[in-house]
Amino acid sequence: MRILVVGGGGREHALCWKIAQSPQVTHLFCAPGNAGIASIATCVAIAAEEVDVLCRFARDERIDLTVVGPEAPLVLGIVDRFRAAGLAIFGPDRAAAEIEGSKAFMKGLFAKYGIPTASYQLFTDPAAALAYVKGRSAPMVVKASGLAAGKGAIVCPTVADAVAAVERIMVTREFGVAGDQVVVEDFLQGEEASFMALVDGEHVLPLAGSQDHKAVFDGDTGPNTGGMGAYSPAPILTPRLHDLAMERVMYPTVRAMAAEGRPYRGLLYAGLMIDGEEMRVLEFNARFGDPETQPLLMRMQSDLVPLLQAAAVGSLRGMTITWDPRTALCVVMTAGGYPGSYEKDLPISGLEQAAAVPDAVVFHAGTRLQDGRVVTKGGRVLGVTALGVDAAAAQRVAYVAAERIHWPGVHYRRDIGYRAVGRR
Ligand code: AMP
Ligand code: GLY
Repeated sequence: MRILVVGGGGREHALCWKIAQSPQVTHLFCAPGNAGIASIATCVAIAAEEVDVLCRFARDERIDLTVVGPEAPLVLGIVDRFRAAGLAIFGPDRAAAEIEGSKAFMKGLFAKYGIPTASYQLFTDPAAALAYVKGRSAPMVVKASGLAAGKGAIVCPTVADAVAAVERIMVTREFGVAGDQVVVEDFLQGEEASFMALVDGEHVLPLAGSQDHKAVFDGDTGPNTGGMGAYSPAPILTPRLHDLAMERVMYPTVRAMAAEGRPYRGLLYAGLMIDGEEMRVLEFNARFGDPETQPLLMRMQSDLVPLLQAAAVGSLRGMTITWDPRTALCVVMTAGGYPGSYEKDLPISGLEQAAAVPDAVVFHAGTRLQDGRVVTKGGRVLGVTALGVDAAAAQRVAYVAAERIHWPGVHYRRDIGYRAVGRR
């Protein structure tokens, strides 16, 4: 099989790493890829959002299956475009990707089908939104409805913060058209977990549970980022809560999407807030999580390719996935200053020494090759991922590997997985 992976972050490096191990694969392409992906796939200089160019490439190269990493091309309708051209592709079509692309749509679906979530109000008029937040009690969460690269949800401890958040989203329009509509919802207490499943329109095949750390500094403090680290399994997702997530969240959502005439095919990711036996959905994503995919795929023992193919063009009925019982843990190394502004093109040292650590894999995110050297290119630069008999062991190995890597200003959290380690 000839496979094309769309994207160029840590998630896509992990997808390429896993797909390249499949005996079914004869050639692997990645668009645009990164310096790490270049060692296992043919990187093609096409951006993930260039849907028409990607479609032409897939046709010319006789690609058998395209796997889409990021949300932006899904929301732009890459899947509709490929299917119309008779090309097999893994991911939801444009109508189904609305579950991530529009929080207004997602919250409406939850309300209509009784899927547990935070209660909310939706606004298109800034004056009405401001009047509402001034008249209610804090804390609350103010969210841009559209895609905002993971930065559009603002947790507001006070009413003044909520006023400022509405102004940022709707008045100064920090997130552009993503802020045409705003969702104001109750602040939920609890611990977050990521619940992902492969879906073929009807059947739901859950992946192992995982958890990520969104805040930039140790102790989950500082601004939210795309994700500073992740691990799997997630001890908080007990077998009982796993079943509850399937019964109350995943199956009802897949049935609801089919009933709405938007059958969901691809990867469905529920961000859950768990408080004792209570479970609510914070958000849905229409794609694999980043960085959760890095530890998840290190634990996956089954061949990923038939699973992706079944979700895309066949049936997942009767399919199973086997998992390494060990824990995998990923430490994200970022450019100094991220998620604010940061420097680029800094040479990275120690990559080979880190890769030599047994049970560790260095997934690249924002890297590129410059005159044969690997340099930084993005905010999230690397995801150092390791396996261990338990969370403490995986954490130890990941940090042994991470400490071998350097560039000026490098930042990473020293406490990834502390909840899982503490639960032992
Ligand atoms: P979202 O993009 O909606 O997933 O929000 C990003 C992050 O903001 C989540 O992962 C949570 O950490 C936090 N968050 C979002 N909604 C809520 C909520 N209703 N209550 C508490 N925290 C929230
Ligand atoms: N790690 C959170 C996300 O992928 O959205």
